[in-house]
Amino acid sequence: MAYISLEHIAKYYGKDDTLVKALDDINFSINKKEFVVILGPSGAGKTTLLNILGGMDLASTGSYYLNGIDVCSYNNKELSKFRREKIGFVFQFYNLMNNLTALENVILATKRIPNSLDPLDVLKKVGLEKRINNFPSALSGGEQQRVSIARALVKKPELLLCDEPTGALDSKTGKTIIALLKDLAKSYDSAVVVVTHNANIALVADRVIKINDGKIISDFYNEQVKEVSEIEW
Ligand SMILES: Nc1ncnc2c1ncn2[C@@H]1O[C@H](COP(=O)(O)OP(=O)(O)O)[C@@H](O)[C@H]1O
Ligand SMILES: [Mg+2]
Repeated sequence: MAYISLEHIAKYYGKDDTLVKALDDINFSINKKEFVVILGPSGAGKTTLLNILGGMDLASTGSYYLNGIDVCSYNNKELSKFRREKIGFVFQFYNLMNNLTALENVILATKRIPNSLDPLDVLKKVGLEKRINNFPSALSGGEQQRVSIARALVKKPELLLCDEPTGALDSKTGKTIIALLKDLAKSYDSAVVVVTHNANIALVADRVIKINDGKIISDFYNEQVKEVSEIEW
């Protein structure tokens, strides 16, 4: 059985005249250690799909299994525990606590998490050991994104979800973040899913799922997975 499996997932907003089919019959599965890029233009349904994968939103219809568990069957309390313990989320604008240092931001994420990793070790892993006592305002965008990746990873999530993680970064910094995420997908026992509208990022992924208008338009494994250093954007 696949690690993650989505079957006939649909998500509707509004009704009658104002009905929006944000997702329409989405089917795919993902294996452990895969580095998956979900590619699509603005409004395609990428964030909606990521929110469903992260338990932040429930599908209108369909099934979503993660590690054998039917996430659609969860009530709100179970869903909250699922988000807290199983999912790491990385956002375009980092969403750090500005009144906490880098280290404190990561420590905060370990609260009520059984078997979390050592926050300092994880900050080292993302290359930030020299900046642990800095507040977000003293960090560059790339550094803030590293803190937010560390904050997601410290929980040892079963799934790391990244919504336009390079959207606010210059291309050089963005490339280092993508290289880091790609590396993490191989070294951690989970899957990494990156949502983007940037086709260049798809070149370095194992797997590319293209969506438009809430539907999958293609789903393939890259025959030649490029190194991050080989791409430009
Ligand atoms: N809460 C909501 N209420 C109504 N429509 C929404 C809501 N969230 C998203 N949508 C609509 O669903 C579609 C997909 O949105 P979204 O998942 O944010 O796309 P993307 O992240 O690819 O830009 C868009 O047409 C958007 O306007
Ligand atoms: Mg979006």
